[in-house]
Amino acid sequence: MNNTITIAVSKGRIFKEALPLLAASGIVPLDDPATSRKLVLDTNQPDVKLVIIRASDVPTYVEYGAADLGVAGKDVLMEYEGDGLYEPLDLQIARCRLMLAGPPGAATGQTRLRIATKYVHSTRRYFAEQGKQVEIIKLYGSMELAPLVRLADLIVDLVDTGNTLKANGLAPLEHIADISSRLIVNKASMKMKHARVNAFVRGMAEAVEQRAGGK
Ligand code: ATP
Ligand code: PRP
Repeated sequence: MNNTITIAVSKGRIFKEALPLLAASGIVPLDDPATSRKLVLDTNQPDVKLVIIRASDVPTYVEYGAADLGVAGKDVLMEYEGDGLYEPLDLQIARCRLMLAGPPGAATGQTRLRIATKYVHSTRRYFAEQGKQVEIIKLYGSMELAPLVRLADLIVDLVDTGNTLKANGLAPLEHIADISSRLIVNKASMKMKHARVNAFVRGMAEAVEQRAGGK
């Protein structure tokens, strides 16, 4: 039986922050995606491979079983519409907040607000829960520009230090959700490769605990 496990990870922030956790559970990639053009990375463990993809594609690869496991931001999971995923572990990396933001002191209660965001579902849900109707403009990045050029009144985006908002004369207005990266698992892999997948999840859980204890 094929007992190799494939883990989908995005390069950049998530790869960098997941590396120490993988290392603590005994897995070391043989290439660095920052310098290599390879999309499938072997590791020091012959039965563990990493695939390097866009952050927002991770749930798709895992739901369809193209990867057994993946590391995805909660922001991406909240936008994803599939239901073929388990989410067994909060890795507590790439932590930030999903926030409503705009010009300092901007009103958030007026009718027909225009909101620019990459997070259309989370935004719609947030305002619907308050019984507010808003017009949502879907963007793919640089949301902070939208209020400056009057494309939108407000934005919904990720905030960590707040530096990006500040540099553009904006301020955080309302907290929508705390975000961190989660380990996700394909449902069929959880059954068919139970022992291998469970060993991996356990190893990562221990690495997360060790890291939290070391702080
Ligand atoms: P894609 O390539 O799919 O458009 P992206 O450009 O948003 O994704 P990254 O910027 O690497 O990819 O972000 C990956 C994840 O890291 C996000 O989904 C989020 O969970 C988290 N993240 C994003 N920005 C920050 C930040 N400033 N601080 C901490 N975590 C962040
Ligand atoms: C993210 C996010 C914000 C910024 C917030 O962008 O979209 O713009 O980080 O972080 P801060 O509060 O610490 O400034 P990122 O740096 O990932 O750029 P990208 O979305 O263009 O990839």
